[in-house]
Amino acid sequence: MGARGNFSSKMGFILAAAGSAVGLGNIWGFPFEVGQGGGAAFVVVYLIFCFILCYPVMVTEIAIGRKTQKNAVGAFNDLGFRKWNFVGKLGIFSGVLILSFYNVIAGWAFGYIFEMVAGNFSIADQFGEYIKNVFKVGSYGLIFMGVTAFVVSKGVSGGIERAAKLLMPTLIIMMIIIVGYAMTLPNALDGLKFYLVPDFSKLTPSVLYNAMGQAFFSLSLGMGALITYGSYVNKNDNIVSSAALITLTDVGIALLAGLMIFPLIGFMSGGTMEGAGSGPGLIFVTLPEIFGEIGGALGAITGTLFFTLLCFAALTSTVSLLEVPISYVVDELKIRRKRAAWIVATVIFIIGIPSLIGNGYSDFFSTAFTTYKDGGIDTDFLSFVGALANDTILPLGGCMIAFFAAHVWKKHNLDEELAQGAPGYKGSFVQKYLNFAIGYFAPIVLAVVFVFTVLFKFFGIQIL
Ligand code: PHE
Repeated sequence: MGARGNFSSKMGFILAAAGSAVGLGNIWGFPFEVGQGGGAAFVVVYLIFCFILCYPVMVTEIAIGRKTQKNAVGAFNDLGFRKWNFVGKLGIFSGVLILSFYNVIAGWAFGYIFEMVAGNFSIADQFGEYIKNVFKVGSYGLIFMGVTAFVVSKGVSGGIERAAKLLMPTLIIMMIIIVGYAMTLPNALDGLKFYLVPDFSKLTPSVLYNAMGQAFFSLSLGMGALITYGSYVNKNDNIVSSAALITLTDVGIALLAGLMIFPLIGFMSGGTMEGAGSGPGLIFVTLPEIFGEIGGALGAITGTLFFTLLCFAALTSTVSLLEVPISYVVDELKIRRKRAAWIVATVIFIIGIPSLIGNGYSDFFSTAFTTYKDGGIDTDFLSFVGALANDTILPLGGCMIAFFAAHVWKKHNLDEELAQGAPGYKGSFVQKYLNFAIGYFAPIVLAVVFVFTVLFKFFGIQIL
């Protein structure tokens, strides 16, 4: 282990980064975005964004992190471009915002473990009441944030890495089994059709913006999380192939989550797919249904196991979210890790309170919190913060990181870092594509999407 802590192996880094990427974004966020975005058309756009735009940004973040061995802000300083460290600061800001609402959802999921233990499958019908009970779900959230702070206070490598090795594959296997079961239910095919056969007339501008935000959010990009994790990577690891593996894993698990949810909605709706667009509550309403279908002790066991694994996946993500501000505070402000973790976690929990109470408990933060999101619809505070952080700041961060790497730090420096540990990279097609994508394609597309998203979501102006 190096002075700042290193991942114990190449596998360790991939697991930790995949652990950061795989989380509520895949299992909770992806299905609800697909449902709201009209189904398969969203999926197609999402996949394109992940591979052609996000993958190059991921490679860039990890390379900057490994080169400098610094946190999201310190990395820019270390390369000699202090003026650019605002990109890292913006990343820390969005990380704090994301964790503040992410932890609320994680609290809901955590509470579901106990509902499943009790075999209370009808929680699906009481979900609205459940999230209104802010003292109950808030306590679950508080515990979740506490565990996150505890893990971060111990440092990134260690327990979490080992646990990920066992629990991630278990989660995947369990999801595959649930998918298999869901397919046997009546009307499952209607769900599958909604999910996999694109109807491109549903492709509105807002579908594009949301797909971009979802891609960045799910891959943990645009805010320096992977600069931070990259700083713990060994020089002889292959960044180009590791990033590909992380992207594939993340996308694969999101796709699997859809395969689990949509056949089930087909079943529940009798084939009409009504309810597919119900939003952030989606998985909390559909999943208990499937465990209820299984029924009895087996249903309770499956449900408990599933939500336990989901919480673990969420934990590896909250840990990476908290690690971004903590590594900054530890490196740059020289505050002890343990102290920093507990203080920052407390502050973020407090920032999350409006997101917690904005689901029916407090009217002001629930619907009267007016923004112009999606053309003038009143929205709740949590959705507002999501639109601000995921859909707006992350793509902007990705845009600036790519531009910075190619044109400020310079392409040949980036290339050199990427070539380390990647024999055969130089002169390959991948190198040519990455050069094009990082230098031109990603910065331009992301800048355009950023401007359109801001105009549309916050000013109600639709250009496209
Ligand atoms: N990617 C995580 C998820 O899908 C969330 C996350 C976003 C984590 C940004 C770190 C940074 O759940």
